[in-house]
Amino acid sequence: MQEASQEESPAQALQGLSFPGQGRQERWLERESAHVAPGATDEAAFGRRVFTSGNGSMLTDMDGSTYVDLAAGALTQSLGHAHPETVEALSAQAQRLWNVHDSAFPGRAELCELLARLLPPELDTYAFFSTGAEAVEAALRLVQRTAPPERNRIGALRHGFHGKTMGARMLVHWDVGTQSFAGNSVLGYAPNCYRCPLDLEHPSCELRCASLVRRHIAEKPNVSALVFEPVQGAAGVITPPPGYWETVARACRDNGVLLVADEVLTGGGRTGSFLASEEVGVRPDLVVMAKGAANGFPFSVLAGPRELMHHPSASEPGAYASTYGGNPLGVAVATATLGVVEREALTERAKELGVLVGELLARMRDRFPSVGDVRGLGLLHGVEFVRDRATREPAPETAREVYRAALDLGVRTALGGHIIRVSPPLNIDEETLRSALGSLERALEQVEGA
Ligand SMILES: Cc1ncc(COP(=O)(O)O)c(C=O)c1O
Repeated sequence: MQEASQEESPAQALQGLSFPGQGRQERWLERESAHVAPGATDEAAFGRRVFTSGNGSMLTDMDGSTYVDLAAGALTQSLGHAHPETVEALSAQAQRLWNVHDSAFPGRAELCELLARLLPPELDTYAFFSTGAEAVEAALRLVQRTAPPERNRIGALRHGFHGKTMGARMLVHWDVGTQSFAGNSVLGYAPNCYRCPLDLEHPSCELRCASLVRRHIAEKPNVSALVFEPVQGAAGVITPPPGYWETVARACRDNGVLLVADEVLTGGGRTGSFLASEEVGVRPDLVVMAKGAANGFPFSVLAGPRELMHHPSASEPGAYASTYGGNPLGVAVATATLGVVEREALTERAKELGVLVGELLARMRDRFPSVGDVRGLGLLHGVEFVRDRATREPAPETAREVYRAALDLGVRTALGGHIIRVSPPLNIDEETLRSALGSLERALEQVEGA
C-alpha cells in the first residue's frame, strides 16, 4: 500500500544510485529479482534491505544492522515483532488445529467476548476473514443485500483506500498501482485541510467539504452506505478537523445511509481510542478491522449490530464463510494480541505517546523547510514533504532521501509518495521512541544540509 506518485517509478529513480555497505543484501536482492514480480512499494524499492528477524520494536537485517521499526511492519505490529504471547498462542494453536472451515472451536467464543468488551456495545456480532480487502468486500455484500433496490450506490471519500479487490477498488478513485475503477460508487470530499480541494482555509471554510457531502447525501436518495476511513491512512494520515464527521455522520443518519468505518489501519487502539471512529465522534453501523488486530498475522474482522448482521437477506448459509476466514490460527493470535492491548491499556498508551510524537515532529516542521505539514492521532502520524512551502508542491524525492538516510541511521519509517508515516508499535518504550525520532531528525539534517 502506498500513495500514488505522479513521479518517476521506483525502478527509474533507483537507476544510478549505489548502495554502499549492503553488498550481501544487494546480492540477495539481485538473486530474487530474477523471479519476484515487480511493483514493489516505495519502502521496499528504496529501502533495499533484507530483513532476517524482528524482536519488539527492533528489526535486524542480513548484515546484522538493527532498526527501530517506526512502521510497525505494515502498520500491523501493534505489539512489535515476535511478541512472546502471540508467538506462544500461535505455536500452541499450530500443534492443535489449523482449519475446520467455519465450524466452531473453543477459541472463537473467547475472541468474540473479547471483541464485545473492546468495541462499542452495539457492535456485538462478528464475522472473521483473512485480509482487509476481504472484510471490506463482506461489508459491501452486506450493505448491497440489505439496501432497498433504489439505493444502489455506495458513497466513499476522495483519496480513501480500501483495498485492491474489485469491490474495494470501486471505492478508490485514485491510482492504486493499476488504474482506478469507479464502479457504482459516488464520492465526497475528504477533510484534507493542508491540500483543500476547494481551495479554502480552515476554519474560515466553515467545513464546506462536509456540507457538500451532506448535500450530496441529502439530495441523492440512491446511496445506501458511506464507506470511510475516519483518518485516511494511505492518503497520508489525513486527520479531520473538528466538526467534519459530526456533519457527515448526522447527514448519513438523517438520510438512512449506513456508516461503514474502514478501520483496517486505524482499528485496535492505534489512534488513541480502540476505534478511530470513537476518536472523531462517529458511531458506525459496521466496522472493518485488520492490520493491528492480530499483530501481523493475516486476520480481519467485520463487526456490526446483531439485527444487521442477522438480516435474512444477508445471512443465507455460507454468507460469511471463506476458506481461511476465521481459522483457528488467526483467532488464536488475535485473541492474544487484543488481550495484551486490553490488559496493558495500550490504547491509552498510544494516546499518551502520540502527544510526544506530535511534539517532536512539529519541532522538525519548524526547523526544516522541506517539511510542509505534520499531523496525526495517537501513534499514527504523517510527515508531508514539499519543494516549496508556499506552493506546497509535493517532494517525493526528499521523502525518499529522508527515508533512506533514516534507514542508514537505524530507523525504519513507512514511505509512500511524498509522505512518511510514523506508526510504531503501541508498546514501544519511550526512550527508544525518542531516540528513533532523534535519528529521524538527524536524517533531515543530513538531507537539508542543516
Ligand atoms: C484503510 C484500509 N483498508 C483496506 C486495506 C486493504 O487491506 P489488505 O491489504 O489487507 O487487503 C488497507 C491496506 O492497507 C487499508 O489501509
